This record gives sequence, C-alpha cells and structure tokens, in this order.
Amino acid sequence: MSDAVSYQLKDGVGVITVNNPPVNALGQAVRAGLKEGLEKGLADDGARALVVIGGGRTFPAGADIREFGKPPQDPSLPDVIDAYENSDKLVVAAIHGTALGGGLEVALGCDYRVAVKSGAVGLPEVKLGLLPGAGGTQRLPRLAGPKAALEMITAGNPVKAPKAQDMGIIDAIVGDDLEAEAIAYAKKLVADGAPRRRICDMEAKAESPSLFEEFEKGLQKKARGFLAPFHCLKAVKAAVDLPFQDGLKRERELFQELMESPQSKAQRHVFFAEREVAKVPGVSKDTPKREVKKVGIVGAGTMGGGIAMNFANAGIPVIIKEVKQEALDKGLATIRKNYESTAKKGRISMDDVEKRMSLLSGTLDYDDFKDVDLVIEAVFESMDVKQDVFETLDKVCKQGAILASNTSTLDVNRIASFTSRPEDVCGMHFFSPANVMKLLENVRGDKTSDDVVATIMDIGKKIGKVAVCVGVCDGFVGNRMLHKRQAEAVALVEEGASPEQVDKVIYDLGFPMGPFAMSDLAGLDIGYSIRLERRKAGDPDAQELTWLDKLAEKGRYGQKTQAGVYKYEEGDRTPKPDPVTAEVIEQHRKDKGITPRDVSDQEVLERCMYVMVNEGSKILEEGIAARALDVDIVWIYGYGFPVYRGGTMFWADQVGVKEIFDRVSQFYKEQGGEQWKPSPLLEQLAKEGKGFHDAK
Ligand code: 3HC
Ligand code: NAI
Repeated sequence: MSDAVSYQLKDGVGVITVNNPPVNALGQAVRAGLKEGLEKGLADDGARALVVIGGGRTFPAGADIREFGKPPQDPSLPDVIDAYENSDKLVVAAIHGTALGGGLEVALGCDYRVAVKSGAVGLPEVKLGLLPGAGGTQRLPRLAGPKAALEMITAGNPVKAPKAQDMGIIDAIVGDDLEAEAIAYAKKLVADGAPRRRICDMEAKAESPSLFEEFEKGLQKKARGFLAPFHCLKAVKAAVDLPFQDGLKRERELFQELMESPQSKAQRHVFFAEREVAKVPGVSKDTPKREVKKVGIVGAGTMGGGIAMNFANAGIPVIIKEVKQEALDKGLATIRKNYESTAKKGRISMDDVEKRMSLLSGTLDYDDFKDVDLVIEAVFESMDVKQDVFETLDKVCKQGAILASNTSTLDVNRIASFTSRPEDVCGMHFFSPANVMKLLENVRGDKTSDDVVATIMDIGKKIGKVAVCVGVCDGFVGNRMLHKRQAEAVALVEEGASPEQVDKVIYDLGFPMGPFAMSDLAGLDIGYSIRLERRKAGDPDAQELTWLDKLAEKGRYGQKTQAGVYKYEEGDRTPKPDPVTAEVIEQHRKDKGITPRDVSDQEVLERCMYVMVNEGSKILEEGIAARALDVDIVWIYGYGFPVYRGGTMFWADQVGVKEIFDRVSQFYKEQGGEQWKPSPLLEQLAKEGKGFHDAK
C-alpha cells in the first residue's frame, strides 16, 4: 500500500488511516490508498466493520487543489466514494480537525459519521469557484435537507460538529480518543444489527415549492458576479429533481464547467496567494521572531482606537498614549461603544466586551511604554509630529522593542532616522476601519531587520489580518495604485463622462463601489486637504483645482454631509445623482475651455484599470512589492477587488499583458503623463508573451 494510507485490524474492526500531511488532501496516492485499504478491509475476515480516519491533525480537508488543471489520474474521487458506499461492510467515518470538500464527501460515502466535539465539516469548494464534485451536492441534500445543503454549499463555511449533529450530518459526538471511540461505535452498530445507511438510497425533498427560486434571489444580492454559487444551486436542485445517478452526472457537468472557468482559476490563485504572501522572499521561515506580549499605541484617534481593538480581540494587552485626557477618554469611549454595538448584534457577549476593555489602558505619559514590545504610532500625519514621537520612543522604549508607524504617506526611512535603532523601525499600515479591514501593509524600511519583518508578519496573522510586506514609497502598494485610478476617473469626467458612468463601469467589473462613491465614503475633504498641502508645497500636478476640489470647497464632503459627488437621504447610504454636481462639472469644463465628448464604457474601463496595472508593474520593478501575487492580495483585501478576477495583476494576465501594454503606449502617445509612461517590465512581458505571474 502507498505510505499515504495504512490499513490495520484493531479489535475486530478494519481501520483505514490517511497520512498525508499537512491536511491529508486527497491526492492520487491517497485516493489509491483509500481504495486499496477498503479492498483489504473487505477481504479481511477478522474485520466486522471498517473505520476511516485521518492521521495527524485532521480528516482529509479536501481534494488536492494542486492537482487541479492537470490531467486527471485514476482512481477518481467519485469512484473511490462509490466503492465505499457500495461496500459489503459497514463503514464509519471518524472525524477530527476539518472534514472539508472531498473529505466530507468521503465521509458522506460512509454509512455513519462520528466526530470529536472540536471537529468541523464543510463544503468550501464555492470559495475556489467550484462546487463539490464528488457527490457532495447530491448526498448532502439527501442527508441534511436541500435548504441546509444550499446554505452550506453556496456559502462554503464550515459547521462545528455539534451543529452538524443537529443537522443530521454527524451521527454522534465522541470523546477525544477518536480511533478507539470510532471502533467501539462501529462494533456497537454491528452488535445492534444496525442497518447499512447508503445516502444514495435516501430522498431529497425541497422544504417548500419556492425554495430554489427564493434562494436564487438572495444569491443575486449576496454573490453578485460570482458563477459558482449559482452552479451550486443548480446541482442541489438536481438532487431534488433527478434520480441519484442522473444527479451525479449533472453535478459532474457543472463541476467541469466551473473547473475550466476563468473565475475558478482566479479563486484558486487567490487561495494559494493568500498563503504565499505570508512567506516574505529573503526572510527564512526559521528567522527568529521577537515576543510581543504587550503593545503600546500612540494616538487614540480614528486609527489608534481601531488598531488597539485588534490586539485586545487577540488577548494582547494594549496601552494607549494620548496628549490630553479628553482625547484619551474619547478614544476609549469610542472603543467601548464599538464593542457594545457588536455585542448588541449578538456577535460577542457583554462578558467579551468587559474582557477586551480590561486589556486596554490609557496614559498621558511615555514612561508607561517602558515595558512594551511593540509600539504602533498613529498620530497626525505630519513629519514634525512623528519626529517628536519617534525621538521620544527611542529614549523610553526598551532595547528590542519594535517601533512601527501607521503613516499612509510619509517616508518610513526618514521616520527610522529619528531613532538610534532604525533596524527596529517599520511601518504597519492598517486600513480604516482598522478593526474591520483585513489588509495590513507591513512596511519594510531600508534598515528594518529580518526578525522585525518576521515578527510583524506573524503578529498580522495573530490579529486576524492578511499581512503583505511592502517597501517604502508614497502610498505603498494600495494607495499608490488607487491614486492613479482616482486621477484618471476625475479626468474622464472632465472630458465628458459622468461620475455615474465611471462608477457603474467599475461596479460592474465587480468592485463593491465605484471611485466616486468611494470618495464620498472616505470624505472629499481628505483628498482636498492632501492636494492643498501638495499645492502649498509647490507640487506642479496639484496646482489646479479639480472639480472634486470645487465640490469640497462648497462643503460637500460626501456621506457625512449628505452631499458630495452624490446626494444622500438622511440615514441612507445609497448614492443618488445630484444636479448640483452636474452644474459644478459643467462650469468646471467651461472654465477650462473643454467641450465634453462621448466617452465609451470601454475607455473608462481601460483608463481606470490599465493605469493601475502600469503602476502595479512599476511597483514590481522597484521591488516595492516582491511578487505580483502580493499586489493581488493588497487589492482584494484592501479595496474589494473582485475575488473571482484574482486581483489586479492576475486580472491583467487574463486580459493579456500585450493588449494592456499596447493601450498604455497609445494613451502615453495621445495624452502623455508619467502615469502612462509604459513600465519597462510591462513592455518586457508583452514582448516575451508572458504574464506577471510568469515573471520571477
Ligand atoms: N490541497 C492542497 N493543498 C492544501 C489544501 C488542499 N485541499 N488545503 C491546504 N493545503 C495546503 C496549503 O496550501 C498550505 O500549504 P503551504 O504550507 O505550502 O502554504 C498547507 O496545506 C496548510 O494550509 P493552511 O496554511 O491553510 O493551514 P490552516 O491550518 O490554516 O488551515 C484548512 C487548514 C482549514 C484545511 C485550510 O487549509 C483550507 O481551508 N484548505 C482548503 C480546503 C478546501 O478548499 N477543500 C476543498 C478542496 S476542493 C475539493 O475538495 C473538490 C471536491 O469536491 C472534488
Ligand atoms: P486622528 O486625527 O483621528 O487621530 C490622531 C490622534 O493622535 C489624535 O487623537 C491626537 O490627539 C493624537 N496625537 C497627536 N499627537 C500625539 C502625540 N504626540 N502623542 C499622543 N497622541 C497624539 O488621525 P487618524 O485618522 O487616526 O490618523 C492617524 C495616522 O494614521 C496618520 O498617520 C494617518 O495618515 C494614518 N492613517 C489614517 C487612515 C485613515 O483612514 N484615517 C488610514 C491609514 C493610516
């Protein structure tokens, strides 16, 4: 037998154990081993029943995703499961860890399922742009009912063992000595003369005649743009409408369609990219990490408060420093209010609120920072203020403490130079609201040491963020690209497009909102004051007022003033077109002597998106991001880039780098501007016929 699966007779029961670390994925060797193990068990006269179990940390967590897109190798998973379902001996699946995807499908091919209390089951294929393709869409509705199956399969979230038991998926929760418990369970079934329980013999009955229609309506809102959830629904419907074997056939067709879709390719890319970003090139996984037991935060404003919550949520004590007592009280009160509102929604208990608040303390005195292991500075965005803060931190903090800035635009190398220990200084750029947004750009300065980088990447994971390591430049990865898109969006409107048209093109691409709805959410005053500063500093690109600045000058700051680019009804965040904005734009065009022209949707798409790809390419060239996948993850987790398009650079590869290079070159010829100067990397890839993800 292959090493991946073993068979042993134990106490009158044949035990088939999968050993394929880390997650017992069902690659070819495992599938072959499972089949062989079953054959041995069936041939073993001493075995009255069989148990399938995962060695190590989990029951199989699914098919081996790395095999997808390669030629299929026998035996197929559906064939293996079919053999278990039709075996002559009763089979019990013994679940611990996470029985996911193909793993749960194997368990559904067994007669009975037992699990330890901490175990979980799920069909997460939808998150890879797929559907359960080894009978899951046909067996789960038969076992748990179509409604519950629809919910589990279209959302892809795992269900803890006790809930799975309530749903009828798990037959018994057993003690932690899983193998012994499963053997005892199997023996008892045999002794009691328990019947075989082939799920394929059961019937799936829709709970209501309109179940699928209504569920689809809900999906249209929740899963706009995604293909897989709708295919999942069709497959589950087949379980209700068709005999088992025909349903399996339908499931296979739908599965194949998804497997070949660009969406699934993109979502599988995101799965691996999300794990790859944690591995920073040049920083070995054996790099020692510093211990972070206590965190200091400077500034209890919008960002400081949100950042503090992340640490308290993870059980790490935080001390927050402010300049004045009122600001400190206000900051702590805001945190409490946020926690209480989460508790009101039932997501945490009031006990949790108190527990988390007890981990937070305030101070006006830097002396209290003597014992912190990590400081995150979140004071006003001014180099003078930051200089003062870092010079003080350098004096008071212990040796080895990491000193991080949350700056979004300032030079982290310069900030490091204010200290005598630049190797301990880095950026940790959180996104607003910092307690909600998953992205964390960890900024590595020229002198930041490897163990600091390793530590902040690790801390990012501990506090539930997706951390991406980036280099020092204005705006880092995300905002630097965003600013290019924003400038192009503003220019398109100046030339003749409407804000609604620009927003619709970007929304239709799958973003949660367009550039102008986003400006209204962030506040037009923010961009305005940044440009004002740049104007004062003599930046030639910021000398003219844009039409957005003119709206801001009228006090139209966006959602918070119920008027910005759009207008908003009281208590409603839906943007509505506003004639005032149209007038401001018209006047602005007149002032600049511009005759508006028709701008096509295709031009909006190309200019907004290709300008970002060109900038992303420059970011790669400069080494600000190490790999195209880092840029993808920044855009997915920081800006809602549609997951099913795989991130900005993956999308660029799917569109075609050559196509983008040609258009970028043409825009550069027609209108000039640094933003359209083709990146040499873009040009090189276009010439070589490669994509960003082929480049090393
Ligand atoms: N195939 C191949 N590799 C896998 C894998 C899979 N199904 N699941 C995880 N891995 C790899 C990861 O890439 C990672 O590799 P790395 O160490 O080289 O980066 C390693 O296993 C450990 O994974 P995580 O870092 O994610 O470990 P966690 O402990 O955080 O999470 C997990 C474990 C919950 C199992 C998580 O890995 C997970 O969600 N895996 C995917 C599960 C899934 O999607 N299953 C369905 C697959 S599709 C399918 O079954 C089709 C079928 O219906 C026909
Ligand atoms: P804010 O104005 O809400 O909060 C700043 C706080 O710092 C104030 O409460 C102020 O009293 C306090 N402060 C100022 N000097 C201090 C000092 N010497 N010691 C202690 N406290 C001091 O500002 P916000 O929005 O929280 O921004 C903070 C930093 O985070 C800035 O560098 C900003 O660029 C960055 N950032 C902001 C984002 C946002 O969306 N607001 C997003 C990402 C980064």
